[in-house]
Amino acid sequence: MGSFVVTGAGLVGSWVARELTDMGHQVTLFDVAPPMQALSHWVDLDRVKLVRGDLQSLPEIISVIQEAKPEAVLHTASFLTAGVRERPYAGVQVNFMGTVNVLEAARIFGVPRVVFCSSGTVYTGMPGGLSMGKDEDFAMKVVSQRPRGLYAVCKLACEHVGYTYHDLYGMEFVAVRFGGVYGPWQGAMSGLPGRFVRKAVEPLIQGRVGEFDRAGMPGAAYGQERATINLAYSRDCAHGVVLGGTVKGDVTGSYDIASGDVSISDFVAALKQAFPGAELTGIPDVAPMPSPPAEFTSAKQRLGYEPQFPIERALVDYASWARRWLN
Ligand SMILES: NC(=O)c1ccc[n+]([C@@H]2O[C@H](COP(=O)([O-])OP(=O)(O)OC[C@H]3O[C@@H](n4cnc5c(N)ncnc54)[C@H](O)[C@@H]3O)[C@@H](O)[C@H]2O)c1
Repeated sequence: MGSFVVTGAGLVGSWVARELTDMGHQVTLFDVAPPMQALSHWVDLDRVKLVRGDLQSLPEIISVIQEAKPEAVLHTASFLTAGVRERPYAGVQVNFMGTVNVLEAARIFGVPRVVFCSSGTVYTGMPGGLSMGKDEDFAMKVVSQRPRGLYAVCKLACEHVGYTYHDLYGMEFVAVRFGGVYGPWQGAMSGLPGRFVRKAVEPLIQGRVGEFDRAGMPGAAYGQERATINLAYSRDCAHGVVLGGTVKGDVTGSYDIASGDVSISDFVAALKQAFPGAELTGIPDVAPMPSPPAEFTSAKQRLGYEPQFPIERALVDYASWARRWLN
């Protein structure tokens, strides 16, 4: 049984805590405002140590790591795209300096590994943008192919700092780059993809008409509307984080983690299958397109990652959890 510090008790961090406690590990959850009610739906709060603290405070992170003596810090806490847009300075402080604080505290106490939640938005500056196939170890020109948006820039900068800690101090550094994350969650939904799916799914769980919010489509959020959506179910993301923290050997690297590319027609069909008789408003008039195959080559080979929740299975799982607080 090992000890792990998980920063962020949100959509992904809560499932990371659940998976680790199910494996028999000790978990310390560190969050500035832990959403107790939402957490309690799948995390046994008697089995995790919850610490209220701020990523911006190096002493607070130090004290958690000093006490837990973890074998890895799994760093999920962050502002998301919308939060960084609203509060850019605070976003950079939390997302960039907060990650530097995590790395530095881990270095001081000799924590062997840090897993960092990055994002597929790091690819947004590539020629062809989000719609082209990608390689986790992509080549990128610093000026003309830089990621679009402060959130994505902070994520990429953190990956560079993490790799430099690896080179200089020997700390293992694993970056997991999620697609658009969605899943059941009673708390505030910080991510745009999660909000998009929630609008469509949660009314259906309650027997109402679901809303297909064209403006909220994840592609549209990045200014590059696509006919396919790279969706990542929260439990698949959490599993990627847990693998990143527990796989044996030095697996330092960046890995794409998602559940698969979903065309709009696939998404609508999966909704109708999970909720027979479902009514949806606002379905965009986009021709069905074959999805490019989801690319998880490195994650499969080095972490043993396989997505467990294709869209059809994920929606059924989503409904089974969300019924607890929606009905
Ligand atoms: N949700 C997505 O669509 C998406 C996509 C790609 C990558 N990611 C990344 O995945 C990770 C997890 O995302 P999520 O959807 O679980 O987010 P979330 O908002 O549900 O959870 C993040 C948690 O971080 C905490 N937090 C924020 N600022 C903090 C601070 N200063 N100190 C301590 N805790 C703080 C929040 O209270 C929240 O509970 C993040 O790093 C995010 O950038 C998310």
